Amino acid sequence: MIIGIPKEIKADEKRVSITPDKIKGLIDAGHKIIFERGAGQNAGFPDSAYSNIEIVSDAGKVWGSADMIIKVKEPQKEEFKHFRQNQIIFTYLHLAAVPDLTSELVKTKASGIAYETIQKKDGSLPLLEPMSEIAGRLAPQIAARILQSDFNGPGKLLGGVPGAEPCRFVVVGGGTVGLNAAFIATALGARVTIFDINLDRLRSIEYKYRGSIKTMLSTEQKLAEYIQRSDVVIGAVLIPGASAPKVITEKMVAEMRPSSLILDVAIDQGGSVEKIKQTTQSNPTYIKNDIIHCAIPNIPGSVANTASTALSNATYEHILYLANNGIEELVTKNKPFAKGINTLNGHVTHEALANSLNMQYVNVEEAL
Ligand SMILES: NC(=O)c1ccc[n+]([C@@H]2O[C@H](COP(=O)([O-])OP(=O)(O)OC[C@H]3O[C@@H](n4cnc5c(N)ncnc54)[C@H](O)[C@@H]3O)[C@@H](O)[C@H]2O)c1
Repeated sequence: MIIGIPKEIKADEKRVSITPDKIKGLIDAGHKIIFERGAGQNAGFPDSAYSNIEIVSDAGKVWGSADMIIKVKEPQKEEFKHFRQNQIIFTYLHLAAVPDLTSELVKTKASGIAYETIQKKDGSLPLLEPMSEIAGRLAPQIAARILQSDFNGPGKLLGGVPGAEPCRFVVVGGGTVGLNAAFIATALGARVTIFDINLDRLRSIEYKYRGSIKTMLSTEQKLAEYIQRSDVVIGAVLIPGASAPKVITEKMVAEMRPSSLILDVAIDQGGSVEKIKQTTQSNPTYIKNDIIHCAIPNIPGSVANTASTALSNATYEHILYLANNGIEELVTKNKPFAKGINTLNGHVTHEALANSLNMQYVNVEEAL
């Protein structure tokens, strides 16, 4: 297969989809790599670090020659013109939040395979996990900075000091993002409560972090009560493939203390806070009704070197498998991987996505 690596063009996105150490295995397996000049530069991987690949200056040439495009973030509007029938686009897609991208993939009959919906039998999401770990670990760092007076915040230190109380965090969703956010915030001295609807999840957190992280079953009433008293609320819920449930309502936000912070990590799936608007790395916050809102959809992009390495570590075996075997083998022999197929031959092939966007669902075997 010819595998294309275009440069990421989403605002402030600095990651690259493949690190240099993963190239040899693909080439040894007989594949060819076409790479856009400078695609790895902002992540600390210059063109000179990549061997035995074709480097071109024109993104159109990468898209035009490749059987499979490997990216980091969802294709942007300027990239839609490159889509073509049967071309595999393997990347984070988050289609429930971008209906026009979904329609374009369907219209052009491109094969959209989303890292984030590949799902193992145990329910885990192996290609979302590394970015969720990073976003979760970064969230308290971002919060710490936003709360500082020199960043126009309320001037609070996460851990407080003897005699001055620490910040209170409410983390909604105790999965990978939530747990990583909780343990870093706790390590910095904050008081953290995780809310989730999955009691087993809460039980395992409680047993492991006994005492240091508090857990609560998420009901509207309890959540409202805790959010009212918090300094930082982190949105980290997920229903794979679907739009994020709006668990944090406008009313809950209105009752928060002035200058407290909402950091909605689930914004990439449309956001878990009612009416929240996306922000960017370079313009991370806006203030509404005295509450600081932050909703960056590509948080790991700010640690592009670590994030590209973690992403490439997780995707490499999948890229190799797909390049060696093609989509048909995936559909018929690899169910967990096939869950990543969101669009195929002009159909939406992920049920939760189809339901979220009110589109027709066709199962992947039929679509094939
Ligand atoms: N903004 C970014 O840069 C970035 C980076 C990585 C991940 N994410 C996003 O963060 C979100 C969380 O990802 P994750 O990997 O932690 O997912 P996960 O599946 O590991 O965890 C999600 C948790 O949410 C819980 N949940 C679902 N519905 C809920 C509800 N109504 N109330 C309370 N809890 C609920 C689930 O039980 C689960 O424990 C996803 O939307 C993901 O795409 C964003």
